[in-house]
Amino acid sequence: MIKINKSFFLIDKLEQDNSLTLSEYEYLISNQSEETSEYLFEKSRALREKYYKKDVYIRGLIEFSNYCKNDCLYCGIRRSNKNAERYRLTADEILECCSDGYQLGFRTFVLQSGEDPYYTDDMLVSIISSIKNSFPDCALTLSIGEKTYEQYKAYFDAGADRYLLRHETANKEHYDKLHPDNLSHDNRLQCLYNLKEIGYQVGTGFMVGSPYQTAKNLAQDMLFLKELQPHMIGIGPFISHKDTPFSQEQSGTMEQTLFMIGLIRLTLPQALIPATTALGTIHPRGREKGILAGANVVMPNLSPTSVRKKYMLYDNKICTGDESAQCRLCLQRRMESIGYRIVVNKGDHASLVK
Ligand code: 5AD
Ligand code: FES
Repeated sequence: MIKINKSFFLIDKLEQDNSLTLSEYEYLISNQSEETSEYLFEKSRALREKYYKKDVYIRGLIEFSNYCKNDCLYCGIRRSNKNAERYRLTADEILECCSDGYQLGFRTFVLQSGEDPYYTDDMLVSIISSIKNSFPDCALTLSIGEKTYEQYKAYFDAGADRYLLRHETANKEHYDKLHPDNLSHDNRLQCLYNLKEIGYQVGTGFMVGSPYQTAKNLAQDMLFLKELQPHMIGIGPFISHKDTPFSQEQSGTMEQTLFMIGLIRLTLPQALIPATTALGTIHPRGREKGILAGANVVMPNLSPTSVRKKYMLYDNKICTGDESAQCRLCLQRRMESIGYRIVVNKGDHASLVK
């Protein structure tokens, strides 16, 4: 009982101040329970509705290549996975996905891929400007990994508005346990600061329940988010993939992921927070529960059905057999079933809306 009281007290404090100390976050995360979650979600949901009412923003995700030069230990499209069937979409195919998406009411497109050097900067710049020319009322988001300042600047100048790059974990030692030696935590964070400086709306995030992660690590993620002040924060449970070194590791839980969504909402009240596909994968109503814990974005897939199954970051990923239109309708129904509505607009961060 005393424990629950302390958690309630800390949740009240977080609601008031939008921040806690490292050890306070750690306490809350370590003592998460059904009762504390319910208490947290009432507050996180209220705050979400204060800024975004019952609106749910949609982003059309186009997974345009699953080639990757990196070898992150958790990821199903890592270069060492010889079982992954690789594919690349052409510029025309990408534009066709955008056209389909536009018809379906999407006003944000997210181009995501592994780190694939096949797409030169010139190619990317040309794809970005074609999309922005064809759909001037849409926002364009890139999620194509670590690049240099100059590269990020070139894409921005070509018209890209937003960039997603999860920090994966704010703790350097933990980062090193999830990644091979040639990837560095310092560079990851430098990329995020570069993106901010250039003027992108930045999204970051992390996996919940990744191997070796501690409650303290998650508390460190909260402090890092508070410092970086990203516009968007994407989190999902770690889910093991059979062809990776982490195939035997435990997956993260829905309960802890939802709890982290609630904490993030109270810490960054206006943040754009997706109810992620990974959350929908570990529980049939995971995305709905994510919205009810304070999330306000969903990112259905616009990739051609023929390549869907090949973009397998983790096992059993949902929606790999569906047409874009089916996904759009299915999500609409899901959101309506909990009293929320999908809106047709760019879905900007509350601070950017005039
Ligand atoms: N489980 C859950 N999320 C994963 N990602 C990559 N592999 C996995 C996995 N096995 C996430 C990473 C990456 C994002 C695109 O997908 O956080 O940044
Ligand atoms: Fe893809 Fe439901 S969101 S089928």
